[in-house]
Amino acid sequence: MTTTPAPRLVEITPHNFEAATGIKVRPEQEFAVSPVMQSLAEAYVHPAGVAWPRLIVDGDRPVGFLMAFFGIDWKEDGTLFRSGLWRLNIAAGEQGRGYGRFAVESVAAEIRRRGGKEMYVTWHTGPHSPENFYPKLGFRTDGETSEGEIVGVLDLS
Ligand SMILES: CC(C)(COP(=O)(O)OP(=O)(O)OC[C@H]1O[C@@H](n2cnc3c(N)ncnc32)[C@H](O)[C@@H]1OP(=O)(O)O)[C@@H](O)C(=O)NCCC(=O)NCCS
Repeated sequence: MTTTPAPRLVEITPHNFEAATGIKVRPEQEFAVSPVMQSLAEAYVHPAGVAWPRLIVDGDRPVGFLMAFFGIDWKEDGTLFRSGLWRLNIAAGEQGRGYGRFAVESVAAEIRRRGGKEMYVTWHTGPHSPENFYPKLGFRTDGETSEGEIVGVLDLS
């Protein structure tokens, strides 16, 4: 019997660290997302449990990287805590195969599992940006921006 390979998320370990940091988006997309190495460094310096980095693999193939955030102090004044998708890098040669959608759905499921009702993400606009990707997956915008990026939210209730 054969089984169809399905994407899955795996923790970043010493074993797959190089595969994770080797994930590269297309050169013209680099303005829209930080390199995986930077995301992992940011995960390291944030309080434990806030950053949730994962490698996206399909069978044995590393196809992308995501980093979710849980309960981040959005305004850095203790008044607003949000969860969502911090980084999403689908490898240049693996785009358009549903891995981005899988990543968003996986983070949505994890936030729901933890009792969250909303999933936040911010994105750049313009050519080669993901500005039409997130609305297609159901994210709403209401004019809020953060550090020059559009803030989108997906209702999970
Ligand atoms: C944006 C990105 C994550 C999309 O990942 P992907 O694996 O190519 O997307 P999927 O194959 O899962 O696409 C899901 C749907 O969104 C659509 N889509 C994908 N990228 C899109 C884009 N840039 N604009 C509009 N629609 C897009 C697909 O056509 C597909 O639609 P369908 O289900 O009707 O066929 C990927 O292109 C990427 O890593 N870009 C560079 C880094 C980046 O911008 N990251 C996001 C930072 S916030």
